[in-house]
Amino acid sequence: MRRKIIIAAGESNLVVDIRRMLDKIPVEVCDMASSANRALEMVEAQKPDLVLVDICLKGALTGIDLAHILNRKDIPFVLLTSTWSQQLFEELKLSCPYGVLIKPFKDTDLLPTIEIALYRWEQSRRLKGSDSVRQSVSQIHSGVIIGRSKELMHVFNLVRQVASHDTTVLLEGESGTGKEGLATRIHELSSRKDAVLVKVNCAALPTQLIESELFGHEKGSFTGAYGRKIGKFEKADGGTIFLDEIGELSMDAQVKILRVLQEMEIERIGGEGLLKVDVRVIAATNRDLEKRVREGNFRLDLYYRLNVFPIKVPPLRQRIEDIPLLVSHFLELFSVKMGKKVNSISNSALQKLINYTWPGNVRELQNLIERSVLLESGKEVQSIELPRPMAVQQDNVPDDSATVQTILELERDYIRSILAKCRHRVSGSGGAAEILNLPSSTLYSKMKKLGISREY
Ligand SMILES: Nc1ncnc2c1ncn2[C@@H]1O[C@H](COP(=O)(O)OP(=O)(O)OP(=O)(O)O)[C@@H](O)[C@H]1O
Ligand SMILES: [Mg+2]
Repeated sequence: MRRKIIIAAGESNLVVDIRRMLDKIPVEVCDMASSANRALEMVEAQKPDLVLVDICLKGALTGIDLAHILNRKDIPFVLLTSTWSQQLFEELKLSCPYGVLIKPFKDTDLLPTIEIALYRWEQSRRLKGSDSVRQSVSQIHSGVIIGRSKELMHVFNLVRQVASHDTTVLLEGESGTGKEGLATRIHELSSRKDAVLVKVNCAALPTQLIESELFGHEKGSFTGAYGRKIGKFEKADGGTIFLDEIGELSMDAQVKILRVLQEMEIERIGGEGLLKVDVRVIAATNRDLEKRVREGNFRLDLYYRLNVFPIKVPPLRQRIEDIPLLVSHFLELFSVKMGKKVNSISNSALQKLINYTWPGNVRELQNLIERSVLLESGKEVQSIELPRPMAVQQDNVPDDSATVQTILELERDYIRSILAKCRHRVSGSGGAAEILNLPSSTLYSKMKKLGISREY
């Protein structure tokens, strides 16, 4: 059977050359496309065995964008490029090509590369044991993290480095940047991947029930405790706990969480004793935690406990290169979900999306594309209605341009704010030393070192 190949290339000369070279082997060039969108339409219609992708394509999506999409669709491809550098190599590698050729090339380069790519593809299909791989062409998953900007690549690198260790990770970033997805990824890449990932939304924990939710309770331990309840930390034993929106925890709850993180021990309410737990902690926040510490709303000791391996997830407006790829991903995701075939977007609409500031980040883009797919009767999104510009929430983002405070300054502001809350009482019940969980002598010497007088 002749195998089918699609050529995606911006220059017509290159296409002519490739066609001529391919005459020498039993393959069928079933189509040619000059843009990624056109290539994707052909892929859907023709179900090719291989796509040759020139990284220079016409339209908003580059050949590298197309490569990432083909990789997700499980379609093998060979990349064609006219330049070569270590940086480009690192970038191309991420799309998992079946081969790469540097232009100009001859048939003696192209033909073996194609044969090897097809052979490798067949082997991998055999290993996966199925024709079902081919069927997965239109199967597109929600929950994957899309993007190839250098900012997101940096985040991926950190994720990869930390995942296999039990180190506590703190994901910081504006709402909708993908922190939850990254937390899941860290768990999936860790040795705990077969164990449970327990997600706790700290903002939704009812104040009176925090302890019971997190640590569990025994039957009859308080009115309404009709049976034994296993808390989130115990459920996560052997696995990972994701403490989402940690910046929203009340001061009371912070003390309780801090104790568990320090000792890795919990006690069910009304329980007989302490239970050891083995839990990997990932926390996330869309608040500026340092600012919360400075304002006295977040415990410094808990902040240090969580801030072992911080990962800052950049807002979408700082990685606009990811927008075309995300748009294409969401178009496909919602087309599949809604049984439609909206697979491209006009250049003017895409440009509008690139110029927008995205206060709601990827979540906002996702919602907008969902609405556009729903409303679209054709195959291409022609125009997009953007919401009126809205001020970006200032509290959300740790401001990169702000002067970075030293740890000592942070500690000084924190102690001052606690002192102010205790009306400058240092020792005794309700004094700052008690709240900070420090002997008063230690607090006095810290105050001296940091130049804090009792009345400042
Ligand atoms: N890089 C990405 N690729 C694909 N989908 C993404 C990406 N980033 C975010 N999303 C999608 O955007 C939505 C919001 O992401 P997520 O819930 O992870 O954000 P978050 O940072 O936890 O926000 P919040 O602080 O509001 O909880 C999700 O539906 C997620 O699947
Ligand atoms: Mg979240």
